Amino acid sequence: MLNTTWQALLEATRALHRDVPALSDFCDFPDPVTARACDAKHDPLCDAMLGQTALPTLPALQVFHQSAMAAARSAQWRDTYRDTAFGETLHAHFGSFEVVGRDTVLGAEGMRSFLVYQAPGFHYPMHHHPAEEIYLVLAGWGEFHLQGQPSRRLEAGETALHPENAPHALTTHDAPLVAYVVWKGDVEKKPVWTETDPPI
Ligand SMILES: [Fe+2]
Repeated sequence: MLNTTWQALLEATRALHRDVPALSDFCDFPDPVTARACDAKHDPLCDAMLGQTALPTLPALQVFHQSAMAAARSAQWRDTYRDTAFGETLHAHFGSFEVVGRDTVLGAEGMRSFLVYQAPGFHYPMHHHPAEEIYLVLAGWGEFHLQGQPSRRLEAGETALHPENAPHALTTHDAPLVAYVVWKGDVEKKPVWTETDPPI
């Protein structure tokens, strides 16, 4: 049984996938989504994100953005790279929690999605994973890098598609970035650092 905060986030997420063509085109929204037990895990990046009250978003993204912010304190913030040499540095500037998928109360198969926050002035080095990925910027902006392509500055409402195992990176400058990220395909394997951009 979902509480009202996560029920609202589920409805907002389903609506976001329905209304944003890039998400609708990327994959079907999972059905069913089943309430699961998932302990909250706090991260200081959650506080940093919630402190960014002046970050503008787009009207079309507002309900989802607000619903995700409301759920952030009861979410299980992730430790994806904590056991790597660059992990502590990364997690001092980048945090995420799962919205729909495996490590979240909104349990589903076949797709995983995440709310991510990156502090200003940080370079998240080149990494890759077998899952295909799409970023939808919710607020702030970032410079997105995909190996072999020119870097792109993306703001609220814009998307970046990362094919399976394609190295990609993300740089923030004078603003933080809040984004919604969706994985499809091989969603179980963790990302790894790409040797061409060693993080240490
Ligand atoms: Fe990625």
